[in-house]
Amino acid sequence: MKRSLSATLALLMLATQARAANPWDDRSLSPDKRADLVLKKMTLDEKIRLVDGEFGSVAKLNGQDVEPPAEALMGSAGYIPGVPRLGIPAQYETDAGLGVATQGNTRDKVRERTSLPAGLATAATWNPDLAFRGGAMIGAEARASGFNVMLAGGVNLTREPRNGRNFEYAGEDPLLAGTIAGAEIKGVQSNHIVSTVKHFAENDQETGRAIVSVDLDDAQARMSDLLAFQIAIEQADPGSVMCSYNRLHGTYACENDELLNRILKKEWGYKGYVMSDWGADHSTAKAANAGLDQESAWVFDGQNRFGEALKAAIADKSVPMKRLDDMVHRILRTLFDKGVIDDPVAQAQVDSVKDAAVSQADAEESIVLLKNDKALLPLKPGVKKVAVIGAHADVGVPAGGGSSLVYPAGGNAVPGLAPETWPGPVMFHPSSPLKALKARFGQAEVAFADGADLDAAAKLAAASDVVIVFARNWDGEAHDEPLTLPDNQDQLIAAVAGANANTVVVLETGNPVTMPWLTKAGAVVEAWYSGTSGGEAIARVLFGEVDASGRLPITFPASADQLPHPVIAHIGEDNVPPFDLDYPEGAAAGYKWFDKRALTPLFPFGYGLSYSTYAYDGLSAKQEGGKVTVSFTVKNTGTRAGKDVPQIYVGRQGDGWEAPRRLAGWEKISLQPGESKQVTLTVDPRLLAHFDGKSHKWVIAKGSYDLSLGASSRDLRLSSSVTLEEKRF
Ligand code: BGC
Repeated sequence: MKRSLSATLALLMLATQARAANPWDDRSLSPDKRADLVLKKMTLDEKIRLVDGEFGSVAKLNGQDVEPPAEALMGSAGYIPGVPRLGIPAQYETDAGLGVATQGNTRDKVRERTSLPAGLATAATWNPDLAFRGGAMIGAEARASGFNVMLAGGVNLTREPRNGRNFEYAGEDPLLAGTIAGAEIKGVQSNHIVSTVKHFAENDQETGRAIVSVDLDDAQARMSDLLAFQIAIEQADPGSVMCSYNRLHGTYACENDELLNRILKKEWGYKGYVMSDWGADHSTAKAANAGLDQESAWVFDGQNRFGEALKAAIADKSVPMKRLDDMVHRILRTLFDKGVIDDPVAQAQVDSVKDAAVSQADAEESIVLLKNDKALLPLKPGVKKVAVIGAHADVGVPAGGGSSLVYPAGGNAVPGLAPETWPGPVMFHPSSPLKALKARFGQAEVAFADGADLDAAAKLAAASDVVIVFARNWDGEAHDEPLTLPDNQDQLIAAVAGANANTVVVLETGNPVTMPWLTKAGAVVEAWYSGTSGGEAIARVLFGEVDASGRLPITFPASADQLPHPVIAHIGEDNVPPFDLDYPEGAAAGYKWFDKRALTPLFPFGYGLSYSTYAYDGLSAKQEGGKVTVSFTVKNTGTRAGKDVPQIYVGRQGDGWEAPRRLAGWEKISLQPGESKQVTLTVDPRLLAHFDGKSHKWVIAKGSYDLSLGASSRDLRLSSSVTLEEKRF
């Protein structure tokens, strides 16, 4: 059937009008315009509802159970009703960065979903593509579970290697952490849902997190903690920023005008909305005027700050109506911008087999080979007797605790370990390393010992050809942990490795640990919290089915004495009054502190062995119009295919930086034996500059800069330099 052009156009217009029931449905308009159109139609009560978050699970307030709204998704982190008459959907919030979590205190059946390895593990891949794929996978599971806001994107810098939440974050370097968290957030948001970046800012330890005041010089913060956020935000444009529990220079993060209004919104031009962490909003007018846009799960704040209280503040003009409009505008424009409104979430089946493969690929590249004497690894089939010892490796792999915990399909492999309630339960994903190893050892006799009896374990080790001993800790929210392995595991490893030099130690920790038995062990790998398919990933790396290609995103100290704070003030104490925490290291977090002080760590930042070897050649650095690029060649000089992570560090000749050098770039490359690749990297100008606190500008000082190429922050092999003119930006 043929139609005239005008009839076709008329039909098209009709169809468009049918869809565009409201003017803001027009997708050709900008998110800001669409938000403004909705805003004009909203009543005061509707505006208030949009900035006033509910908890999505049962909570206790003054000893009483507070029920979540009936519409909230069971056991979820949060719920904000929509405005149905205007077609604005409710916001359904779920934790977190490793997958779709369930609130620990839910009375309902938990959601069983796929868990990525620890965020720190993903950072150890040094592979932003994997971080993106992981984010895309967990975002898809969030979407399929009915959530349109995911509380992912943890990027607090590791200053305190005993911080119980480091496993959720991305390590100690702002460029690496910002890049990895940014890639993950992008992946989450590729599902047309919102991701946060959190916890803004300087929430770098759990001890006293809600009362501590961090005193870090602003310029130093811009070159460290805040730079990690800035990079993640630039790369991914997260829909929301979650402000943190702590105070900065005496003012809570969620009512900190300098942090939220001036730096985030004004200087960085951030257009999304700021939500408070659960219990981090301490005021109404002060917080709203300082830049907080949405109170989360108000019941944790002890009272509702952004409900009736905000309405009263609007009435008495302590919060201008203009400000409320801005809060609402920011939320609406984000929901348009990320596709939440145009592509509403709908519950669907999760493809857990496909998703587990994504998690496994991440875990495999995250495992760091720390020591491999006499090429004990990769393991070889054909041995007769094998001992696998410790850390419940017969049944599963450990997870970290707290709000990020993803409950696995098949249930907890080791139920009943304390604490069973918040920040527990202590969880093991049911992916058995023992089973995966057995499947590869062929005819060998593989025995398991739980490691509780040291003598029995040592005896078994002595009678075996090869021993694989697992050790773990339990890091989690609301507590910091020492650098030492708990539960006599150091003694266990020492006994086993003392009995058999062919001992492989597999660490499953959320943080660095000390290794008093290191000289005795034949091989050591750091496998972190390895997620849903961790057992399989560990076995594949130990057998060399994939290369060991993880590199440390965090320094392993030789002892706590090397740290800026050898002891964490008030650790483990109850009823501590508010206290101040200074950062003597300033911007020199992690390896920068170790370099500045010439301290020798146990293992340095960036370190990790491969099953192959690599040579670096032809390093050249040049600057054109102030833009610095670095080129070099990497060759696989070994006999196996492998992956290397060549790293560029930059240092300023003379004085003036927080530390001798900063990570300025890297590449994760796959190389066949004998293969070479040329790499070219561009250096972010901020990494050549210092931040000037007075002018609020980055300043590249005139002078010479060394660009070094290495296999870790302490294994620099080639160096080149450039001369730069002064530049302020
Ligand atoms: C955590 C956040 C989390 C929130 C919701 C808080 O305790 O700090 O990271 O997203 O709870 O569960």
